[in-house]
Amino acid sequence: MKASNFAVPRALLSLLAFSSSATAFYLPGVAPTSYKPGDSVPLYVNNVKPVAAPGDSLIHSVTSYDYYYAPFHYCRPEGQPKRIAESLGSILFGDRILTSPFELDMAKNETCKSLCTSEYERSAAAWVNRRIAQGYNLNWIVDGLPAGQEFRDPITDTKFYSPGFLMGNLQDGQLVFYNHYDIIIDYHEVNGNPNELRVVGARVNPSSRKYSGDACGDVTGTIHLDEKSISTVKFSYGVYWKKSNTAWATRWDKYLHVFDPKIQWFFLVNTAVIDVFLVLTVTSILFRALKKDIARYNRLDQINLDDLSSTSVLDEGVQEDSGWKLVHGDVFRSPSHPLVLSVMLGSGVQLFVMFGFTIVLALMGFLSPSNRGSLGTITILSYTILSTLGGYTSARVYKSMGGEKWKTNILFTPLLVPGVVFSVFFVLNLFLWAKQSSGAVPFTTMLVIVGIWFVISVPLSFAGSWLGFKASMIQSPVKTNQIPRQIPFAPSYLRLLPTMLEVGILPFLAILVELYFILTSFWFNKIYYMFGFLFLCYTLMIVTSAAVTVLMVYHLLCAENYNWQWRAFLSSGMTAGYVFLTMLVYWLYNIKLGGLAGSVLYLGYSALISFLIFILTGSVGYFASWWFVRKIYSSIKVD
Ligand SMILES: *[C@@H]1O[C@H](CO)[C@@H](O)[C@H](O)[C@H]1NC(C)=O
Repeated sequence: MKASNFAVPRALLSLLAFSSSATAFYLPGVAPTSYKPGDSVPLYVNNVKPVAAPGDSLIHSVTSYDYYYAPFHYCRPEGQPKRIAESLGSILFGDRILTSPFELDMAKNETCKSLCTSEYERSAAAWVNRRIAQGYNLNWIVDGLPAGQEFRDPITDTKFYSPGFLMGNLQDGQLVFYNHYDIIIDYHEVNGNPNELRVVGARVNPSSRKYSGDACGDVTGTIHLDEKSISTVKFSYGVYWKKSNTAWATRWDKYLHVFDPKIQWFFLVNTAVIDVFLVLTVTSILFRALKKDIARYNRLDQINLDDLSSTSVLDEGVQEDSGWKLVHGDVFRSPSHPLVLSVMLGSGVQLFVMFGFTIVLALMGFLSPSNRGSLGTITILSYTILSTLGGYTSARVYKSMGGEKWKTNILFTPLLVPGVVFSVFFVLNLFLWAKQSSGAVPFTTMLVIVGIWFVISVPLSFAGSWLGFKASMIQSPVKTNQIPRQIPFAPSYLRLLPTMLEVGILPFLAILVELYFILTSFWFNKIYYMFGFLFLCYTLMIVTSAAVTVLMVYHLLCAENYNWQWRAFLSSGMTAGYVFLTMLVYWLYNIKLGGLAGSVLYLGYSALISFLIFILTGSVGYFASWWFVRKIYSSIKVD
């Protein structure tokens, strides 16, 4: 997935968010602007990006462009367009906001105003026609609100605004180019005061007008950009102000359309019930088995102590002593490659807290969509600050695994996972640069990110590692034998690959529906705002991951295989494998990319996100199993 094209997920407060977005309210972030009649209201232009193509409703491209990218020939403001300052998250997620030549005067209707005349040479015409065919959308921002188009949800029968509008369309098999924009703005009188007006909605109805004479004169048809000769296009726009009852505080509600809340609820409740049922069954079976095991082990112990003289009883006892107790001398043996494992666990904990923290903040309304890019910014900042936690965890785990290369551990914890992410991101960005896409993150922003990474994140991680190494070593409840035990041949369902496939699927099912909606938001330019759902799904995923991995580890230990550490991490992390698979399936059904670059970008971003999910879920599985193993081995007596 292409980070620059994400319609950024946004936030919402109150439990009401679980059921509907229509009751959103926001914590302060952006102050309202009041206008007097005739005051000029700013209209900024943002990137031009592909949504669903007019013919087949598929995504055909992943590269977005600057509004003023030369072949578009869109009208420029006097002088040169100026950049509007944006937050880091906003830039990373692809916003490129610039000033525009449109003049909007509060509450002053304007049926038609001419803008400029552009000439499309043949190559530009062909290029623009291709963009129209791929369903590129113009994204404008009026007083902080995205200019959208009104849609009616056929299922819930509610009207909502979808950000962005088409730059052209397919009519009777011909590509039509839109050159006239009717801008419809909803405004609200604060306390009925006609001198205190606020913008509460913005829509654009684009149309195609072939003017016989001057712009705004007689219209003789629609415009088709001719790919064989030069086409001249006169641009114009109209502005209509409509009084609205919507208050400023709720002006985003129309945009935050929840797709089919009923379906979401249906799936969520279903998965939740199945998951909870499963987890409860699993844990109750597990605990009953454990209780029996522990009672048996301790009883045998008792017999052994009482009748030390009676060898027959002792023999019987030894014979009966089977199952996970047998591996007590090996279960706390250090896993292979403790360095890599501990570094990934450190990053995993960091990601786990980062995601949780961001979702909760979003849920509480701190990351409202009126704060463009706040979600991205908070994600990056919280990851940076949580570096201390990552370093601490990594060091502590490494130390308790008996690792000795502590310098390497300290160095690699802040470098490995962010390094992989940054390298992939950088390479993918090269593709965007090559395509002159506005989605390419500017060089200066790259420098800022590297700066944050090395100046803040790395030292914080070092500090965390130092604390982790200074902390006392976590003692294992039973001693580890000198000589490793032979691992018997395992039944096929307990081999590595089968356990990965078995364990990964359940947590994945918990997030499947939400994943589908998130992908749709990203690709179809809808604002994702269902943080209530997301929070539930995240929790379900974590709980399921933990429960299923613990069950798997129990079976593994019963089969006398004590190499549970990597097994827990890998099989729980397999959730990410299923996520990646889903993204591929999504590609098959909704996305039809021509060209190598688009495919590389889609695959690259999908792989990147799956990698992060792998680290996160893997760590959840590991720590749940770690807790479980410590718990059961400290409840039995071993000599
Ligand atoms: C402006 O146009 C809108 C939409 O057509 C209309 O409802 C409104 O009354 C007009 N306002 C004025 C001041 O003419």
